[in-house]
Amino acid sequence: MKLISGNANRPLAEAIAAYLGQPLTKCLVRRFADMEIFVEIQENVRGEDVFIIQPTSFPANDHLMELLIIMDAARRASARRITAVVPYFGYARQDRKPGPRTPITAKLVANMIERAGADRVLTIDLHAGQIQGFFDIPVDNLYAAPVMVQDLKEHYDLENVMVVSPDVGGVVRARALAKRIGAPLAIVDKRRERPGESEVMNIIGDVKGRACILVDDIVDSGGTLCNAAEALLEHGALEVSAYITHGVLSGGAVARIAASPLKELVITDSIQPTEAVRVARNIRVISVAELLGEAVRRTAEERSVSSLFY
Ligand code: R5P
Repeated sequence: MKLISGNANRPLAEAIAAYLGQPLTKCLVRRFADMEIFVEIQENVRGEDVFIIQPTSFPANDHLMELLIIMDAARRASARRITAVVPYFGYARQDRKPGPRTPITAKLVANMIERAGADRVLTIDLHAGQIQGFFDIPVDNLYAAPVMVQDLKEHYDLENVMVVSPDVGGVVRARALAKRIGAPLAIVDKRRERPGESEVMNIIGDVKGRACILVDDIVDSGGTLCNAAEALLEHGALEVSAYITHGVLSGGAVARIAASPLKELVITDSIQPTEAVRVARNIRVISVAELLGEAVRRTAEERSVSSLFY
């Protein structure tokens, strides 16, 4: 097996490599003066099972191109099999046409990854499970839930926890986590009763006196999360925290979260945390390196990956 990292999240790639007891393959990824990407894999990968670790996080276009170009280099170097390990699969939120003349970028990116030479894809908490069907190659969509459950057990009294989906679209994901810890589920239902009127937040479920845990796949601007936290506290929640797989945290998101009533936001390292994230008063990062490392090992050994979750 050969492990190659792009520039998107080298610490995660190194942690995966450490878990597997195997060094990262030397690979030069640099820029020409005009910012075109140049890649040189500096070790022989002929006939090897190659895993390329690269989330397509900010700057998404650059990191996506790096992933495609590294795969092209590996394919032309006669790698036996290429697995694109994309812990955060960007462009996934455009997974259907919300209106006429709009793109489906999740499908476009899937096409690009396949055409560049991927034989398999390994990712975590895809925004929508059906994106797996946008590929005609095997996709292993891992869940961060077991890592979150372990952390929840260490930091919360599960007797008083209520898992909350911050919107109706996230109910399946939140329910799955609630089931794992035997906690009840509530849902924040955002509704705009009439055009031009502000959104009303209804809470489905009784959150009074509960330690609420918001669960979602992505925190980007932080708007969804902070609004949900405020609504839960207004409805009598004891405290509100959040467990979210991908800390996209664009623009002023970190400041917004620091200023919010959230007790803490727990994200994974699927995206490399910025310095602002690392020093934020109420953001904590847990690692999916072992989960990914184990999935890589099992893929290489042709063993079951799904059994990691049961
Ligand atoms: C939406 O469908 C996602 O699951 C997240 O709820 C959303 O991307 C969060 O975005 P933001 O943090 O900008 O509200």
